[in-house]
Amino acid sequence: PRKTFMTAVLIDCDPGIDDALALALAVASPELDVRAVTCVAGNRPVAVTAANARRLLDLFGRPDIPVHAGAARPLLYPQARTNLVHGEDGLGGVSLGGDARPVAAPGVDPGVALEAADHAADVLAHLLLSPLGADMVIVAMGPLTNLALVEIRHPGLLARARSIHIMGGAAHCPGNVTPAAEFNFWADPAAAHVVMTAGARLEVFPLDVTSQAAMTPAWLASLATQPKRSAQALAAMLAVYGEQDPLLHDACPVAALLRPQLFSGQAGRLEVDWRPGPDEGRSHLHQEGEVNAALYTGLDTDGLLSLMAE
Ligand code: BDR
Ligand code: CA
Repeated sequence: PRKTFMTAVLIDCDPGIDDALALALAVASPELDVRAVTCVAGNRPVAVTAANARRLLDLFGRPDIPVHAGAARPLLYPQARTNLVHGEDGLGGVSLGGDARPVAAPGVDPGVALEAADHAADVLAHLLLSPLGADMVIVAMGPLTNLALVEIRHPGLLARARSIHIMGGAAHCPGNVTPAAEFNFWADPAAAHVVMTAGARLEVFPLDVTSQAAMTPAWLASLATQPKRSAQALAAMLAVYGEQDPLLHDACPVAALLRPQLFSGQAGRLEVDWRPGPDEGRSHLHQEGEVNAALYTGLDTDGLLSLMAE
């Protein structure tokens, strides 16, 4: 792959089984140059999501991509809002082997131990402030706490990114964690509000579109026949996750970088209810007011599944 035509990508995530699939898609795509993976408390506590990201990247043959742990709790609450949809360990109980340390591959630096690494929000800010910052795309697949911390610390900095692709929200459909809200927005509604109002170029992939990203039995069966260890591990995770939530939510914002024609939607003004209460995390799409996001609602599901299979 020719570096000059690659898109530089920063991934903020909370693996998470659909996060694992999305990471696999990103690192397997020569069009994308994943510069760093930052982690946030979401599906599981941040120590777990960061260790999972490290193990996954090692499994995918990318021990060189740095992983940085970030926010352990949402802006307004003392404890992380986690879930057990992805199992206690966040990866459906599928052992990936190794420990939480980066594993050195031949000829590759072992990297920095997670405990010694910088905070995810500082790493994101540092990269956005670098000369290449304006060329970077952020893909956010978990609660938006780390991104909000960047904006609070450096007002206006998120707007420097080329774009921010976000899995979160539910515009015209019910939520998946409360009747009102989708998990990522509910887990840190104040952070979602900060990011929606940051003046950045936002591309949002809510449940409206990710609920169409359904894995089929045939697709799962074909993944399970792939001999690679990584494919076997992903198939084993999906066998667990598929019963709970058989949707490739987090793959959507990555896939849209590779095949934008698979997605359709509209521009509008997306607002998030951030005040505590039954509506918190609810997203509203308004046609009036200043446009702040492109919001996707349509998907070519077969196209997504064949991209993932590829
Ligand atoms: C989102 O919540 C998490 O469980 C998934 O990883 C995805 O990011 C879907 O609502
Ligand atoms: Ca996620």
